Amino acid sequence: MEIKKEIRELLRNKNAILLAHYYVDAEVQDIADFLGDSLALSQAAAETNADIIVFAGVHFMAETAKILCPNKKVLLPDLDAGCSLADSCQDGDFENFVKENPEHVVISYVNTTARVKALSDVICTSSNAKDIVESFPENQKIIFGPDRNLGDYINKITGRSMKLWNGACHVHQEFSLEKILKLKNENLTAKILAHPECSKPILTISDFIGSTSALLEFSVKDDSQIFIVATESGILHQMKKESPLKLFIPAPGENDSCDCNDCKYMKLNSLKKIYNCLLHESNQIFVETEIAKKALMPIQRMLEISKFTKND
Ligand code: 13P
Ligand code: SF4
Repeated sequence: MEIKKEIRELLRNKNAILLAHYYVDAEVQDIADFLGDSLALSQAAAETNADIIVFAGVHFMAETAKILCPNKKVLLPDLDAGCSLADSCQDGDFENFVKENPEHVVISYVNTTARVKALSDVICTSSNAKDIVESFPENQKIIFGPDRNLGDYINKITGRSMKLWNGACHVHQEFSLEKILKLKNENLTAKILAHPECSKPILTISDFIGSTSALLEFSVKDDSQIFIVATESGILHQMKKESPLKLFIPAPGENDSCDCNDCKYMKLNSLKKIYNCLLHESNQIFVETEIAKKALMPIQRMLEISKFTKND
């Protein structure tokens, strides 16, 4: 309790704001100034008047905030909080992919490094990917990276045939179709909710597909009393808070011996690390000026297209 109070006091005294993603630990979610999915968090970063942003999330999220707010201090509680999806798309390889496909517009998921963003025409998140793709004419050739599952899903719902980068997230890739079907059999009235980063077989059997915010909203509005949730486990905290009488079952992964639906990077954001980085104003995120300049344009283009998609 004490450390939570001390963090809140430091935040107040330093005119700082704590932004947190739904995938971080419950105790961190509970003290955040703003909790949201990737889009809502980048919108919040773009709009804040705080001098310091503490980002309880992963590196690409803090980097995006720094690109949007170059004059603010952006702190990441643990600098090792990376992302397996962003890692699956190295900028040198992606640059070659872009060069091999001239005449293509480049749409990159926000889960990328600043260098990959700098090679892109527009950024998207899971909650606005469909809108971003549909902002281009139907005959526009498009490269979409790095998540092949999200890209494949967007191709399906828009009827496009974007060229996809072959990347994936280790958490969403791991869910077991067989075990989810077994759970469904044991809970026949349950609805299956899935993040679009899940693989095609999981998406095919799902009742609802959406970003973390969209899954949360669906779980509140839908009449079902039981949900099997195929995304990172952190979101269950808000689902249970919003609907305490409903039952939320985390979808199991292939491997029984790991907490497969925990993102090990998101879970690095402990209260102690938040306190320390804020106290010492350490773990600052910096982005090379030239790269930041190039990456800002596609991020701003996304925010412009999503102006009216305030999902939190
Ligand atoms: P959201 O767009 O739902 O926040 O997705 C973020 C993420 O990292 C999914 O793994
Ligand atoms: Fe990256 Fe996957 Fe973690 Fe999201 S859940 S931050 S995509 S590794």
